[in-house]
Amino acid sequence: MSGTVAPNAVAAVSEARQWDRLMQMAKLGAIPGDGVNRACLTDLDRESRRLLISWAEPLGLAVSVDAIGNLFLRMEGTEPALAPVLTGSHMDSQPNGGRFDGIWGVIAGLEAVQALREAGVTPKRPIEVVAWTNEEGGRFAPGCMGSMAYAGFRPVETWDAIADKDGLTFGAELAKHMALEADIPRRPLGVVEGTAPFAYVECHIEQGPRLEAEDLEIGVVTGIQGSRWFTVDIHGKSDHAGTTPLRLRKDAMQDMIRAVTALNAIMHDPEDVLRFTVARLEVSPNSSNSVAERVRFSIDLRHPDGDVLRRKGDAIEAVVKAALTTCTATVTETFHAMPIAFDRLVRDAVERAARAQGLGTLRLASGAFHDAQFMSRLCPTGMIFVPSRGGVSHHPSEYTAPDQLAAGARVLAAVLADLAER
Ligand code: GLV
Ligand code: MN
Ligand code: MN
Repeated sequence: MSGTVAPNAVAAVSEARQWDRLMQMAKLGAIPGDGVNRACLTDLDRESRRLLISWAEPLGLAVSVDAIGNLFLRMEGTEPALAPVLTGSHMDSQPNGGRFDGIWGVIAGLEAVQALREAGVTPKRPIEVVAWTNEEGGRFAPGCMGSMAYAGFRPVETWDAIADKDGLTFGAELAKHMALEADIPRRPLGVVEGTAPFAYVECHIEQGPRLEAEDLEIGVVTGIQGSRWFTVDIHGKSDHAGTTPLRLRKDAMQDMIRAVTALNAIMHDPEDVLRFTVARLEVSPNSSNSVAERVRFSIDLRHPDGDVLRRKGDAIEAVVKAALTTCTATVTETFHAMPIAFDRLVRDAVERAARAQGLGTLRLASGAFHDAQFMSRLCPTGMIFVPSRGGVSHHPSEYTAPDQLAAGARVLAAVLADLAER
C-alpha cells in the first residue's frame, strides 16, 4: 500500500455517519435510560441486520449468511482468491444493555470499508465485515455461539435444545430466523478449503476504566482472560410453607444459599483478580408459600491464569455437593474459553496505525470475552478498544463519545488497509 492510500482512507472515516448509524441501531430495542435490549434471533435482531444490509448494499458489498446466522459483508479485493481480512463483532445486546457493546465493532467495520471505498482504495485481499450470532448469551446461554461454530469449536447442533426464558429453543429460533432470511445468499459455515481468514480485527468499547483513567484514545488488546460458565440445578421437594416442619423439608432455596456461600469461600481472592458471579436464578414453583423444589443458578467464573481457572472451575461440583444438606445437585459446564494471548501481527499493526495518527495507546488485556477469543484459533487476531465512560458497560449508561469512536474507526481503516495489502 502506498504511503498516501491509507491516510486518504483514514481521512474518509466519517464521525457523523458512524454516530448516526449507531443511534439508528440504538432505536431497535431502545429501553429507558438510553439502553438497548436486542436479544439474538428476535425480530429486533433481524431488523438491525436488515438495516446494516441497507447500508452495505449501495457500497457494492456482497451479503451472505452461514448456517448459524453469522452475517458477512464482503468487499472484494483485487486478488479475490487471497484469504480475506475479517473484522466485526456482534449486534445482539444484554437484556439491560447499552448502545455500543458489540454493535460498534460492526458499524466501525462498515465505516472503515466505506472509507476505503470513498478513498478509491481496493486492497489486494478481500475484506469481510461480520456480525456474529449470539455473542452475549443473554437469551441463549452461552455466548459466542456464532464464532465458536465458525472457528470449529462446536457444531451448530450443540445448542439446539437450549431454551430461552419462554421455553423457545435455539434450534427452533435459528431455523425460523434462517427461513426469514431465505433471500440472503448462503455461504458455507466456517473455514472450508482456502477460506481461513488472513487475520481478524475486532473493534470494541473497553468496558473497563483504564483508557479513560489514563486519558488514552486506543487500547491495543494483548489477550483475553479465560471464562467458564456453569449451570447448577438443586433438586429438592416442594411442600406447604405453613405446615411442613423444617426438619422434613428438602428446601432447594436453602441449599442453594449454602452452595453459593461455600463457593464464595473458595473463590475469595485477596488480590481481586478472580471474577466469580452468580447472577441468574430460576426458582420452581416460585411461590411464596411453597417450599422451593428446584433452583437453577448460573456461575460465571473468569481468570487470566488458565491453571487457576481450571482448578477453581473443576472444584465447583464437589463444593456445591458438599454444601447441600438435604437436596441433590447437578452441575453442567456450558462454556469454556481458556485465556488467550493475541498474535503480534494485528497488535503491531494497531499500534503502528494509532501512533501514525498521533493517538495515545495502552496495551491491555480484556476482562470481557469476545468473539476474537475463538477467532484466535484460526488466524492472527487482535482487538482495538476505545474508552468507556466510567468503565461502565452491560448497562444503559454505557457511553463512548462520537470522536472517541471515530478515532477507533480511523485506526481500524488503517489496519485493514495495511493487513489487506500483505
Ligand atoms: C461478554 O459480553 C462478556 O460477558 O464478557
Ligand atoms: Mn461485546
Ligand atoms: Mn457484552
